[in-house]
Amino acid sequence: MPNIESTLNETRVFNPAAEFVKQANVSGMATYQTMCAAAEQDYTGYWAKLAREYVQWKKPFTKVLDESDAPFFKWFEDGELNVSYNCLDRHLATQAEKTAIIFEADDGKVSHVSYRELHGRVSQFANGLKSRGIRKGDRVIIYMPMSVEAVVAMQACARIGAIHSVVFGGFSSKSLHERIIDARAVAVITADGQMRGGKVMPLKPAVDEALSFGGCETVHSVIVYRRTGARVHWNDATNIWWHELFNSQASHCEPEWVSAEHPLFILYTSGSTGKPKGVQHSSGGYLLGAMVSMQWVFDYKASDIFWCTADVGWVTGHTYVAYGPLAMGGTQVIFEGVPTYPDAGRFWKMIQDHQVTTFYTAPTAIRSLIKLGGDLPKQYDLSSLRLLGSVGEPINPEAWMWYYNTVGQARCPIVDTWWQTETGCHMIAPLPGAMPLKPGTCTLPLPGIMAAIVNEAGDEVHDQHGGFLVIKRPFPSQIRAIWGDPERYKQSYFPAEMRGAYLAGDSARRDEDGYFWIMGRIDDVLNVSGHRLGTMEIESALASNPLVAEAAVVGKPHDIKGEAVVAFVVLKGARPEDPTKAKEIADALRNWVAKEIGPIAKPDEIRFGENLPKTRSGKIMRRLLRALAKGEEITQDISTLENPAILEQLKNTVS
Ligand code: WT7
Repeated sequence: MPNIESTLNETRVFNPAAEFVKQANVSGMATYQTMCAAAEQDYTGYWAKLAREYVQWKKPFTKVLDESDAPFFKWFEDGELNVSYNCLDRHLATQAEKTAIIFEADDGKVSHVSYRELHGRVSQFANGLKSRGIRKGDRVIIYMPMSVEAVVAMQACARIGAIHSVVFGGFSSKSLHERIIDARAVAVITADGQMRGGKVMPLKPAVDEALSFGGCETVHSVIVYRRTGARVHWNDATNIWWHELFNSQASHCEPEWVSAEHPLFILYTSGSTGKPKGVQHSSGGYLLGAMVSMQWVFDYKASDIFWCTADVGWVTGHTYVAYGPLAMGGTQVIFEGVPTYPDAGRFWKMIQDHQVTTFYTAPTAIRSLIKLGGDLPKQYDLSSLRLLGSVGEPINPEAWMWYYNTVGQARCPIVDTWWQTETGCHMIAPLPGAMPLKPGTCTLPLPGIMAAIVNEAGDEVHDQHGGFLVIKRPFPSQIRAIWGDPERYKQSYFPAEMRGAYLAGDSARRDEDGYFWIMGRIDDVLNVSGHRLGTMEIESALASNPLVAEAAVVGKPHDIKGEAVVAFVVLKGARPEDPTKAKEIADALRNWVAKEIGPIAKPDEIRFGENLPKTRSGKIMRRLLRALAKGEEITQDISTLENPAILEQLKNTVS
């Protein structure tokens, strides 16, 4: 596989400290290996035992795994449960007054919500949803800022068996519209706006706009949480204030008992076509994955103060904010604002103020905080920390070392967790009391996760060779379907060559210790600041601009974001020669992409050409574009290139 070569050569090893090992939920490699062996020996028995241990079932399951309709796998199907019950009610007898959520607002105001209060709020809001006619199986879009209410909304849906689909608040009205239509949602839960970095940002207007695009007749309710007090347009027929809906309800709501396979949520994510995929997750298997990973990877303890900085708009904010920490009965921090406001010490101050023990963030955040104030952590008391985590992209060894030494003070293990929207929970990640760490690798699979690296033919490759990352056996927390598109689900994740294994879409290699090193995506997916963006999605957004004839998008390595978006654009009119004119058009196109998808998808660079480099059969030569974007010498064979002259044009960046 010549196109997948690994260049990283990291040799530092960090053994878990004896102190940490002593208290760890999984201590020592031997224990880890025993767990793996148990899963090898009796795969379904292994998962069944965990499912009985961790999840509270209303009706116990008798079937474990049903593979008869592969790859449409079913886990614990005849078991019945409610995920919200498992996150809230189950804790009431033992720890009702324990703080479930420490919420810190953008302006620094802090509030604590106990399990008893959260249970009451979720039940009350669930009754509110029911009063609007929302029922089991209905899809509800949640488009909200980071808030206690966002978690309440998700939990309330889970409580009544409605399927939520959270749309990140940074996505545009167009993206929101696309998701409302695809999910055929009956309701949208939103806020008037959100507070970020001291600024008021609107949210409700994007919902109004999305609904005005048409085709959203299924939406009968728009529930609006008042956060900023901004004036909003009001449609009496469908709009209702959160507090009005909420206040009139009783605070008892019997959970809806659902099959383990009942969909808990849909979360849209980018794939290699222009249309986002609605990743559908189950109730039982997903919850189990969230819980065991909390236990093993985050080494969860009842005394922990857990903080995952991810927004609920991403899967990390589902599994490690809205569900995992609550199911475990933990105390967690939820933060409304941004890491740089009022200054780049905000995260460190919050860790100090709330005595955070477990801190989970993204490499892009780490890199930007190094840049803005690499010494700032030293000004705060970070002695409460005992474990650090990283997610979203490979963490480069420099950032890892800084995180380890400056934030963790060489005391806290770092769990570099590889997983995806589709996998629901961590797949490859250190169990911090067991595995020696090496900067830059997510180490070894969780016990029971049969990860492997294979070639195009689906055969396993040997250590040190790059290949496709696959998971050989179905696992409880995995994606169940792409909403409304079973064919795409099969093609994307279970192509025939992989012989039944789940194809993750990443390339990776294993080192001599069997550790996995993730090398990047194999499909047309970019990873910008840990956010997954489809190149085709950005291309079709650009191509829908009236000025644009054609566009191709590739990624380029970026110091902070990991990858930056570079767009090659052919205009319908003449290629702009004048730099001022070119910049003007480029800026207009950037804003266009922000409106079509969201600001995260804005191209960093736009380059105009009279044409795109294509083969004689008309295929865009993406590898060539990637080389151009990186400013590399063109070494590849361009003999099949139809129009070599345009390469010169595309070497120039306009801004
Ligand atoms: C893609 C999944 C998982 C929650 C956040 C992203 C990349 C994620 C790591 C990691 C190397 C990583 C992969 C993966 N990725 N975590 N620790 N090391 N790469 O979820 O948006 O579904 O993206 O993010 O490329 O396929 P997502």
